[in-house]
Amino acid sequence: MLRVGKLAKAKSTSSPNTKKAITLSKRVGLIGCGAIGTVLAEAIERKLVACDELVVFDVNVAKAEKLRTSLKFPVEIAESLEELLAYKPKVVVEAASQQALKEYYDQILAADVDLIVMSTGALLALDTSSCRVHFSSGAIGGLDALSSAALAGIDEVTLTSRKNPKALGKNNTQKCIIYEGYAEEAAKLFPREMNVAATLALTVKPTKVRVCVFSDPAVKRNTHEIQMKWRFGEMLLRFANDPHPDNPHTSALAAWSAIKLLQSVLEK
Ligand SMILES: NC(=O)c1ccc[n+]([C@@H]2O[C@H](COP(=O)([O-])OP(=O)(O)OC[C@H]3O[C@@H](n4cnc5c(N)ncnc54)[C@H](O)[C@@H]3O)[C@@H](O)[C@H]2O)c1
Repeated sequence: MLRVGKLAKAKSTSSPNTKKAITLSKRVGLIGCGAIGTVLAEAIERKLVACDELVVFDVNVAKAEKLRTSLKFPVEIAESLEELLAYKPKVVVEAASQQALKEYYDQILAADVDLIVMSTGALLALDTSSCRVHFSSGAIGGLDALSSAALAGIDEVTLTSRKNPKALGKNNTQKCIIYEGYAEEAAKLFPREMNVAATLALTVKPTKVRVCVFSDPAVKRNTHEIQMKWRFGEMLLRFANDPHPDNPHTSALAAWSAIKLLQSVLEK
């Protein structure tokens, strides 16, 4: 089995320990080299994001190595979260899983870095009071309008999501409802597919978000409709997102929302 440390040292001119002493202002740490992590890293390589150096960590070493070899941009591979944080990144982007975020959250915040969260479902059970924790709009948008209305008072908000069975890990041949309930439960039951419900819940809290999920073979795009009634009007937002080609559970828009948020956090 390949050892990351050896690979990292073979390709890198500086070890993590020497890096400890240097704090580059635009170094980014990435946890998770899957669909979102790869699109983000490619955007960094294309200079869409003003980042000096990328440090990646993935429990699946092969994924980290595959990502690094696909890029010309300098990428360091960390063997662990501790090693990633020792590089002293300005921002850490979590693009791994709800479980990973729960496990790493305290340690990342203790390192006093900005944190961009993609697995927003995990945030529902965590203390999000730190101004260093940012969550992207992910596969939806309009969070500015929704959070503004939340200040005045929301009467009701519902999320209706429609996905192809493949994007939900199902094999139904007829359209069916696979979940009806509230956002917190939806994000728990579908940790890879319903982070959007959590994002919405975090945005309009303490209002409860009603969620309905359809598994529909006729649906090609991951579609999310948000309907909201509030004190001074109504909103209807609809997003029809192409699934990421490598991971149908994830919408392409989610990766681009991470890029956009990383741009603005690095500009701070
Ligand atoms: N907020 C949103 O709207 C939204 C939209 C899409 C996806 N997501 C979430 O973003 C996360 C990443 O999505 P993706 O499509 O890139 O997933 P992916 O499965 O393609 O990639 C995740 C990567 O993280 C790695 N990983 C898993 N657990 C880890 C751990 N404990 N430590 C280090 N690495 C770990 C995996 O090996 C994998 O390479 C998922 O939780 C997904 O549900 C959120």
